[in-house]
Amino acid sequence: MDRKTFLSYLGTGAAALATASAGLGALNGKASAASATADHLFGFGTNRVSGYFEPIEPTKADKLVLPKNFKYDVVAAFDDVINQAGEKFGSGCDYNAYFPIKGSNTRGLLVNNHEYSTIFSIGPVKDGKMTADQLHKNLYYQGMSVIEVYRDDNGVWKMDTTSPYARRINGYTKFEITGPAKGGSALGGATTAQGTFANCSGGVTLWNTVLSCEENFAETAAASKLPDTHYGWVIEVDPFDKSYLKKHTALGRFNHENTAMGLAKDGRVVVYMGDDKKDACVYKFISNGKYDKLKGRANSALLEDGTLYVANLKTGKWMPVTLEAVSKAIQDKPDLQKKFKTQGDVVTYCQEAALLVGGTPTDRPEDIEISPFDNTVFICHTNNDNHGNIHGHITRIFETKSDLGALEFDFEIFAAGGRQSGFSSPDNLAFDSNGHLWVVTDISSSSQNKGVHKSFMNNGLFVIPTSGPDKAVALQFASGPVESELTGPFFTPDEQTLFLSVQHPGENTTDLSNPTSKWPHRPGDNKARCAVVAISGFKLS
Ligand code: FEO
Ligand code: CA
Ligand code: CA
Repeated sequence: MDRKTFLSYLGTGAAALATASAGLGALNGKASAASATADHLFGFGTNRVSGYFEPIEPTKADKLVLPKNFKYDVVAAFDDVINQAGEKFGSGCDYNAYFPIKGSNTRGLLVNNHEYSTIFSIGPVKDGKMTADQLHKNLYYQGMSVIEVYRDDNGVWKMDTTSPYARRINGYTKFEITGPAKGGSALGGATTAQGTFANCSGGVTLWNTVLSCEENFAETAAASKLPDTHYGWVIEVDPFDKSYLKKHTALGRFNHENTAMGLAKDGRVVVYMGDDKKDACVYKFISNGKYDKLKGRANSALLEDGTLYVANLKTGKWMPVTLEAVSKAIQDKPDLQKKFKTQGDVVTYCQEAALLVGGTPTDRPEDIEISPFDNTVFICHTNNDNHGNIHGHITRIFETKSDLGALEFDFEIFAAGGRQSGFSSPDNLAFDSNGHLWVVTDISSSSQNKGVHKSFMNNGLFVIPTSGPDKAVALQFASGPVESELTGPFFTPDEQTLFLSVQHPGENTTDLSNPTSKWPHRPGDNKARCAVVAISGFKLS
């Protein structure tokens, strides 16, 4: 089957495809967790065909380009009023999560992360020093927004600013600290923390709250003279309850990208996490207690008590990042013994602790997602020019016996970035119900359209089949505006709408009167605005 035929088969549903691909492998309609490839995904019966589209070509246009017959609506852009109190949508939109209201696919709460400030949100910073007004805006516009969104009778997605749930969470919001570092000396005895910022990607919990990840927090903390150790954590918010705000220290403190939550075979909660830094590690947390659906949000206590592990890719082992393991590794290092006295110290200085216990430094591990079909774990290793991994790759972990609670694993490079696959620098991931991966790319604005990145043009959104003739080949679905990065792909449950963030369009702008992008091109607007869009046009078979 050539690519075109394959795409048209996507349009006819998985069952037809299964028949057409009968030579490929198991087609028994069930995930065969033990198989080495995901070809069995073809046996999945689903009438959702999110993957049906005619791929676009790379482009340098200052537009959000989509395939034929798809459209987008800008749901919320930087500085838009989001509620009756007049609070404003933040800067640097990243992660999205949609929570249906009364089960609706056309009205729900949308949670969005705001990762950082831009020249459009705080203005040019002179001599690297922010003014008082800029410091305020820097804390105000980072963090998160909870907004209410709906699709009107004409099929247009809009924000409902009358929503009682709509609110900002930002650098001023007070959080309760949980876990081993709470009240400890590494946090200056603190049991609460001021605010959250640098919120990159995230994840939805099994109990319908959102985990949001503090990534590159250091600059903002330093500029506002806030204690560095109060940031770099995974936070938890409940979109439907504004009083619920936690920072979970048991999940470690590093440059958190996202979280992917699943269950071990015995019912313990497992959370996979990447540390988006060159030569940083892949982690997973396993709770001590077991998940109990009936307990609802009270299951959150599982994130306060458990073991953090780091991946050793050479031995295929998950190494415990515990005081015991660290102490053993530093027996003859008195300086480090002073630093690591409690588990609170270990989770706070997690990057150092992870290397001490045998974690393998990798190439910027960003998003991690657990395949809903076979429990394999996909990791975007974005890139690392320190040792020539310019285009990055997607790593796939096979836990022993497909048990997320396993302490041993094997792995493969599922797809490598580069000309041969058509994408470079994979970042966020999402699965559709056909088992295809939706992957956004993060070629830095300074590298886009230059040198070996030329052929990829602007950053994009790609669909990468996890099986079949186009396995690991990137089919481009969207291209972002100039100097932007597409982030936070998230489908409504019926897969008829895809929410997507357009982050930092015009990032290289240095002169506000001459921006390098003006996306989304609002009439009379002489600036670029990051925004969340809702994409429609997906067909049912
Ligand atoms: Fe915020 Fe790792 O991207
Ligand atoms: Ca990212
Ligand atoms: Ca990124």
